[in-house]
Amino acid sequence: MKHRIYLDHAATTPLDKRVLKEMQPYFSEKFGNAGSLHFWGTEAREAVERARGEIAKAINAKPEEIIFTSGGTESDNLALQETVYPNRKKGNHIITTSFEHHAVLHTVQFLEKDGFEASCLPVTKEGFVELEEFEKALTAKTILASVMHANNEIGTIQPIAKIGEVCREKGILFHTDAVQTVGKEKIDVEKMNIDLLSASAHKFYGPKGVGFLYVRQGTKIHPLVHGGGHERGLRSGTENTPGIVGMASALKFAVKEMDKENARLKKLRNRLIDGCLGINDSWLNGGREPRLAANAALGFDFVEGESMVLMLSDKGIAASTGSACSTKSLEPSHVLRSLGLPHVKCHGSLRFTLGKDTKASDIDYVVKSLPPIVERLREISPLHKGVDLSEFEEDVEHVHEH
Ligand SMILES: Cc1ncc(COP(=O)(O)O)c(C=O)c1O
Repeated sequence: MKHRIYLDHAATTPLDKRVLKEMQPYFSEKFGNAGSLHFWGTEAREAVERARGEIAKAINAKPEEIIFTSGGTESDNLALQETVYPNRKKGNHIITTSFEHHAVLHTVQFLEKDGFEASCLPVTKEGFVELEEFEKALTAKTILASVMHANNEIGTIQPIAKIGEVCREKGILFHTDAVQTVGKEKIDVEKMNIDLLSASAHKFYGPKGVGFLYVRQGTKIHPLVHGGGHERGLRSGTENTPGIVGMASALKFAVKEMDKENARLKKLRNRLIDGCLGINDSWLNGGREPRLAANAALGFDFVEGESMVLMLSDKGIAASTGSACSTKSLEPSHVLRSLGLPHVKCHGSLRFTLGKDTKASDIDYVVKSLPPIVERLREISPLHKGVDLSEFEEDVEHVHEH
């Protein structure tokens, strides 16, 4: 294949070669268990603690507030499940939003089965949570709020500092799933009033299977994984030294290069969005700003997102319909449904997420390749000719799902 253009960086990113270099010694020569007392152990322990310090500094936290986990899903589960049980005497109400990642939504649903009550906030059709809606959902029994920093499908960035401020005033724990923003947007847990924050290394050019949860000092939290008492008793299991070293290294580069890279990506992203919007009956999912610099989430009438993804793949372009986790399901994306898009329009979604290696010539190639694909698919689509899509639009008032 002549072209190999990867535009699915929200699903995962390649490991930065500089990061791989820093990780390498910890697989072989410096292979010790960070829990061992001898030299090999001390060497690994020092590397883990150095990484903890660097990660903490990147988000303005204290080293002891960083708990290493296996990734975003585990961090979300730990943050939600293990703070509500210890706080159950104070109340049983959780606030979240209708377009969270399933790692949050399904955890909240699990907690609902165990007697917790949840309010799932609607979002605007532009993909933003409104402070007013958030305040309306608060009750005397609210103990935890979980609002994602940026949405993984449409890239819209949420007003989490303001939500955090309200939570702080009311004495409610505030968790944010920042899996899509750590290393891409500035994060200051103090200024943003965050009590718990989830992150995952493979989204910012680090290794897969490692992440962290920031837990504000003094937060009542129990372990999800029990065992030898690692990570201050909050996450047992031998530390993944190479992974942790790699995560810290990746974050160091990401933070250092963030401003310049975001400015570059935003230009390319806008060029891609404008190019794609040249196709008839197309639209941008979610407002253009504030949005992740790398995200272009589009929709096209009369075509299936999956067919576009497969045909783009034949042209050497990797894109997605939305979240990588829901590609096996035929259900339309809960994120797009939460914007009020009818089923029939959700099916025509296409997400491009740019990255460090994306060049202007890649964008031009995509903008050139997509129109004939859409045209071809529309030719064979039974929906295309003479069908008024509004006939398929059910009342979207009721679609705010959990
Ligand atoms: C917003 C968000 N939260 C959580 C996750 C899960 O992270 P992980 O793959 O590290 O478990 C993802 C991954 O797609 C995500 O985008």
